[in-house]
Amino acid sequence: MKKIAIFASGNGSNYEALANACQEGKVNAQIVLVVVDNPNAYVIERAKKYGHTVFVFNPQEYQKKRLYEDLILNELTNYEVELICFAGYMRIVSKYFLNNFPGKIMNIHPALLPSFKGAHAIRDAYEFGVKVFGVTIHFIDEKIDGGIIIDQDSFRVEGNISLAEVETKIHEMEHRLYPQALQTVLMEE
Ligand code: GRF
Repeated sequence: MKKIAIFASGNGSNYEALANACQEGKVNAQIVLVVVDNPNAYVIERAKKYGHTVFVFNPQEYQKKRLYEDLILNELTNYEVELICFAGYMRIVSKYFLNNFPGKIMNIHPALLPSFKGAHAIRDAYEFGVKVFGVTIHFIDEKIDGGIIIDQDSFRVEGNISLAEVETKIHEMEHRLYPQALQTVLMEE
């Protein structure tokens, strides 16, 4: 079974969706490490519930990105991580980090890439007035929200819908799509 790490920064609902899918055998992977860049993130509580090992760091305590990235890389080596899933990890990784895991870092983005890149994708799409929203699972490369697309899904909205309703629908879609896309990647390897 492939050993994977999940990287997250906040709430962690996508982490939990992946953790459930692994537990239920829908995804043939073992989560050996959860990497969190925010000591106050709720995802840490979620990870405790699953008994997963968490590596928490505070980027502000380091003068250079390289310093904490080396710490993370060291943990990934110790836990023999083969594949990484970013799940709401709000930090850009360096080329140096990427080169250590080429083509081995997946990410979830709450919009239909290449539209609405960036940290406020749902709100941006909503304010633009799109009629079709969606979710993208892709590999990470040097371009922000770039890289090869693994899978996408979408839904159409009719009439009036609030931003909160769109967010709920997107998150439900994310929790379905990410485990599915991860399993596809695992089967192809
Ligand atoms: C998700 O919408 C994800 O697409 C985006 O950040 C959000 C994280 O949510 N990159 P959660 O922490 O998994 O609940």
